[in-house]
Amino acid sequence: MNEQIGLDAKVINSQQTESRDCKKYNCIFPENSPGENLQEEKRISLGSRTLPSRYFLAPLAGYTHLPLRTALRELGGIGLATTDLILAAQLISGGRKSRELIKTSEQDQPLSVQIFGNKIPDLTRAAILLEDLGYQGIDINMGCPMGKVNSSGGGARLMCDCDSATAMVAAVVEAVSLPVTVKMRLGWNAEQMTAPLLAKAFEQVGVAGITIHGRTRQQGFHGKVNLEGIKQVVEAVDHIPIIGNGDVRTIEDAIAMRQFTGCQAIAIGRGAMLDPWLFRKLKQYHQGETPTDPTVKEQIAFLSRHFDLMFQEHGEYATVLFRKFAGWYGARLGIPEYLEDRLRRLESEKVFQEIVQEIQQRHGQRTSTTATALIKVPNGPVERW
Ligand SMILES: Cc1cc2nc3c(=O)[nH]c(=O)nc-3n(C[C@H](O)[C@H](O)[C@H](O)COP(=O)(O)O)c2cc1C
Repeated sequence: MNEQIGLDAKVINSQQTESRDCKKYNCIFPENSPGENLQEEKRISLGSRTLPSRYFLAPLAGYTHLPLRTALRELGGIGLATTDLILAAQLISGGRKSRELIKTSEQDQPLSVQIFGNKIPDLTRAAILLEDLGYQGIDINMGCPMGKVNSSGGGARLMCDCDSATAMVAAVVEAVSLPVTVKMRLGWNAEQMTAPLLAKAFEQVGVAGITIHGRTRQQGFHGKVNLEGIKQVVEAVDHIPIIGNGDVRTIEDAIAMRQFTGCQAIAIGRGAMLDPWLFRKLKQYHQGETPTDPTVKEQIAFLSRHFDLMFQEHGEYATVLFRKFAGWYGARLGIPEYLEDRLRRLESEKVFQEIVQEIQQRHGQRTSTTATALIKVPNGPVERW
């Protein structure tokens, strides 16, 4: 299994030291920009792991697989990425899907593997397996709103029972020497905002950090992210980093979330596909440079690079898997609508190359600046997800 994964446990130690020189801060942000704080931007640590930036790629099941993580990391600025949520029981039984999901590479670092389940022995065994395989961090999912995850007692359902959730987290922390983190929502619904209580309990049993998506399970992905809720979690813990999450699409959103909530890092999910250069721009911003937008050449190169990486991984089937990214990338990459449409129906690698050539000729001839496709989120009342 180790060979299939191709993980080199040493690579994580070779992270380069980022420049902390902060030149005169000369961009776009008004009076409330954290010029002072910028000077003090220090590396963040999750337990024994020191990370190269405070902006993490949030897991998006079905999207943030190895090819996208690699393509995004090449643009720079990502502090940590996390795999899709993986059912602990499937991981320990060596299921094909979970083996695929934990696939990584030397470039794909720092990485955490996210596991979920409702049985403590499954989670501890999965964590031990991951440690033995050389992974560097384990994230426990307590945020997933999907019915099939919650009905088995996993995902956000765990947030309803503080004692059981804490016992589970404590057992995983105890089982491995790797840093263990938790990703959760604010609570099950507006009446049960258990996140501050849970965060405190998890800190006491030794988690290295907690990511908070500022919505309840009831909200699904609707409404605005609740910064006040995230702030309450930050205030509930003594020392562990809280990673704020939800609706961060721009540098301004990220800085506003950090300023308002006091969270030490930010996880960005959908925003990374709306603007793959967001992490790089945040890095430039914190280095006191003017964040640069990608050139047309860079935009097209990113599209091709992501597709090539998917093709290396999946062969012609990559054409099917790539379709769902088209609507997400179209606006940012200046892809005219009719070509975005063709990408959404992509059938072969040959056609992909033809489309790329046409994008080169017609780049910018797009009428809408809004992303036409949204990441598929469940429809209808949350009870039926
Ligand atoms: C399609 C999709 C898949 C997701 N998969 C996961 C997952 O596997 N694990 C997880 O903890 N969160 C998952 N999330 C939640 C995101 O990580 C994140 O918390 C949420 O999208 C809010 O952040 P954003 O606005 O930056 O996307 C998923 C969200 C979406 C839209």
